[in-house]
Amino acid sequence: MFVLQAQGLTKIYGSRGQVATRAVDNLSLEVERGEFLGIMGPSGSGKTTLLNLLATIDQPTAGTVIIEGRNTATLRNDELALFRRRRLGFIFQDYNLLDSLTIRENIALPLVLDRRPPAAIRARVEEVARQLGLTGILDKYPYEVSGGQQQRTAAARAIVHEPAIVLADEPTGNLDSRSARDLMEVLTLLNQNGATIVMVTHDPFAASFCRRILFIRDGRIYSELRRGESRPAFFQRILDALALIGGETDESVAVGGA
Ligand SMILES: Nc1ncnc2c1ncn2[C@@H]1O[C@H](COP(=O)(O)OP(=O)(O)OP(=O)(O)O)[C@@H](O)[C@H]1O
Ligand SMILES: [Mg+2]
Repeated sequence: MFVLQAQGLTKIYGSRGQVATRAVDNLSLEVERGEFLGIMGPSGSGKTTLLNLLATIDQPTAGTVIIEGRNTATLRNDELALFRRRRLGFIFQDYNLLDSLTIRENIALPLVLDRRPPAAIRARVEEVARQLGLTGILDKYPYEVSGGQQQRTAAARAIVHEPAIVLADEPTGNLDSRSARDLMEVLTLLNQNGATIVMVTHDPFAASFCRRILFIRDGRIYSELRRGESRPAFFQRILDALALIGGETDESVAVGGA
């Protein structure tokens, strides 16, 4: 059973008077329950656009996104917002925590918005905090904890309501290498506990924790890798694939020509 199916997704930006950008071009993909899927590709290849389409944050010019068998195009705006809140979890590069709420309150947010009973919320937040090593900082505010702890809090918030799928865009983008490794280990644990994760990343190290990687170029799927071997060996294969695609690992490096 697929958790997510995207068929013929196309997103065209800026058609009026300007040159249109085909950010995502007739792209189809399927995500099985329990997968840990990475999406890589050069800067500007359409990764964020694709993720936002899958997340139903952005509407495609053409094509469909089906989540848990539901064609998201058939939902009204209010239904879509509710669906997103209940069935999706998000992790962003810049954490996106609410500064005025404690770590505990941030993690609890999806459950509070869903009006779950307070005792159930408390128990679930503490369970997730234990898994992610956040127990000791639950009553602190985001500004009182490290970037790595903030991002683990975002990961906790993304899975606390047991969504169908967790979508992450460059979750290690602002983290030092130690915190990035910690976060990837946390995401691996969450995946082993049943979370389905789709993660966009530039970082081959972060990508090496995935079980499958789609390489995107010019809004299309260029190639796919599946991890069979150990993580370090997979890391090497990812580097080789990136060299082939002409994708840089550093955002500041210009994308090479064809
Ligand atoms: N809101 C927008 N309006 C117009 N063009 C856009 C918009 N968002 C993205 N684009 C264009 O669509 C293409 C894909 O952009 P996107 O942000 O999806 O790339 P990306 O792969 O996420 O890049 P990066 O690795 O730098 O984050 C680019 O050519 C970009 O300039
Ligand atoms: Mg992007």
